Amino acid sequence: MKIMFTPSDDPLVDADTPNPARIYDYLLGGANNFAADRDAAEQAMRVGQVGRTVARSNRAFLRRAVRFMCEQGVDQFLDLGSGIPTVGNVHEIAQQANPHARVAYVDNETVAVTYARRLLADDPRSVMVEADLRHPEQVLADPALTGLLDLSRPVGILLVSVLHFVPDAEDPAGIVAGYREAAAGGGYLVVSHYTDEGYSEEKRARAEAGKDVYQRRTRTPVVARGRAELAALLAGTELVPPGVVWAPDWHPDGTGTDPEVSSESEMYAAVARIP
Ligand SMILES: C[S@@+](CC[C@H](N)C(=O)[O-])C[C@H]1O[C@@H](n2cnc3c(N)ncnc32)[C@H](O)[C@@H]1O
Repeated sequence: MKIMFTPSDDPLVDADTPNPARIYDYLLGGANNFAADRDAAEQAMRVGQVGRTVARSNRAFLRRAVRFMCEQGVDQFLDLGSGIPTVGNVHEIAQQANPHARVAYVDNETVAVTYARRLLADDPRSVMVEADLRHPEQVLADPALTGLLDLSRPVGILLVSVLHFVPDAEDPAGIVAGYREAAAGGGYLVVSHYTDEGYSEEKRARAEAGKDVYQRRTRTPVVARGRAELAALLAGTELVPPGVVWAPDWHPDGTGTDPEVSSESEMYAAVARIP
């Protein structure tokens, strides 16, 4: 289902400033983005980011990770920085495996929140919470979330393609720990994260130019992190084999949405069990 969102739908929407949620929606082929978002996405791609491939490959990882968690018996999910709901949403994937699965989405972008609420209006097992994921205590205390998820039981917590919007100064490790420490044992943390590790000089220069577009035009600059840094963010958990790998290499299923060379996904990915 596609719902075209127009700026007049919500006076709080700043349609003139490109936003990562709507840029990402554009890259995935969605209809919930504005001219400024499309322009920034095209500009970033022109200078070197393989935007569409990266977005689709990341989304394919998310699908595989949710299926994996369902196979482990997880039946409730917290999708932090969920973005604008697109085909293959967490609740769709999870409810295919288990019709009783429950999903709380969290985002702080108005279009993502408004669109998700429309999409989920008829689904009593899904909810959209408008919140800033950098404040775990507030997120986890939100009545809409606590009304749906039982935090005393295992939860699959997704931080997919979002922690690179949290700079070191805002303590991403502390944020992840806030969720991990509040979660029951047997749950999972799922993370994918932008990296420029192992880039050639030329590719790094192009990536920097692409990042510069985000830096200058959006309110959320991107921070690249390496494999060791991502593993450190997951301290206190048990990494599911094969550990922190390029997103396409995490339990590949041959669905064909990945780049030919895994490192061109530009994302490291991992699934970790909460002990
Ligand atoms: C690149 S999209 C990823 C969407 C989805 N997780 C996926 O991987 O397909 C990043 C999302 O994170 C959201 N986001 C960024 N910072 C956030 C914050 N501090 N709190 C809540 N959401 C945030 C953005 O609004 C955007 O929707």
